[in-house]
Amino acid sequence: MKPGIQLHLSNLKEIIDKKLLELLPNSSDSLSKLEESMRYSILAGGKRLRPILCISASEAVGGSLDKALPIACAIEMIHTYSLIHDDLPSMDDDLLRRGIPTNHSVFGEALAILAGDALLTDAFSLIVREGISNGISPTVVVEIIRDISKAAGSQGMVSGQAFDLALEGKEVSVEFIEKVHSLKTGALIEASVTSGARVGGASEDQLSQLECYAKYLGLAFQIIDDVLDIEGGTEIGKSRGADARRNKATYPALVGVERARNVALELTEKAVLAIKDFDDRADPLRDLAFYLGGRKY
Ligand code: IPE
Ligand code: IPE
Ligand code: MG
Ligand code: MG
Ligand code: MG
Repeated sequence: MKPGIQLHLSNLKEIIDKKLLELLPNSSDSLSKLEESMRYSILAGGKRLRPILCISASEAVGGSLDKALPIACAIEMIHTYSLIHDDLPSMDDDLLRRGIPTNHSVFGEALAILAGDALLTDAFSLIVREGISNGISPTVVVEIIRDISKAAGSQGMVSGQAFDLALEGKEVSVEFIEKVHSLKTGALIEASVTSGARVGGASEDQLSQLECYAKYLGLAFQIIDDVLDIEGGTEIGKSRGADARRNKATYPALVGVERARNVALELTEKAVLAIKDFDDRADPLRDLAFYLGGRKY
């Protein structure tokens, strides 16, 4: 990992956290239980990978942080919704997330479902409101909404989640796991990168190279997530061994931890290669890929 990336990430994370706090609904002096539940999971932290990718992709094509920031925050809201729902008893039934008890264990299942629903829906109104007021053209706003909604919905993350549940206890091929990983995790990571690139004014060529970068990165990211479920430390902020407990079809379960780690590293190298034509403004994207290939949480 290059020196400086850690500092770059924590600076960006701080900016994203501050903006998220500002953007979250706060309709009254005393927060409603729903708003409290939404804040609980968003403000619990997390790596903020997707918003960082969105901003870094925008900067890689010469865009400004200010314009990409609200879009980045909206994507983090969608990601957080997916985590709240992923942890529900009817899904992965997890008790720990981002180092604290899962949303439903604190607020109950109904409010956790509603907090997820609200985060997902509010994210889109945020993109329209903040996008237009930040000077993003209506055409680009529509393109971003198209990309993100496709990535999050029945042709993307949600279908990946449905496959993930249906495959519990089943034998699957590596190709099929890769497909599921690309849908449940890769799709939103890809949309984070392409929407940042669109805000930054990317050309069609730049867009397709960044898309390719994100495809490799998204797959690598979920493979490492599966590995960390087996051998991660307390810093992962989730209970370890959850996948084995639920008999999930995971990458390391199929090919072993060592091979899975190697595949993830190969994929991050391919990701970096996909953006070889970019100048040094894409260095954060390159550093991020190498950093994620060896991440510990
Ligand atoms: C966890 O995502 C769920 C996956 C898609 C693997 P992250 O590992 O990005 O979770 P946070 O945002 O850092 O909590
Ligand atoms: C979840 O994958 C992907 C999502 C879309 C939330 P996992 O179920 O492996 O994520 P964790 O390990 O609970 O964070
Ligand atoms: Mg899951
Ligand atoms: Mg899970
Ligand atoms: Mg996991």
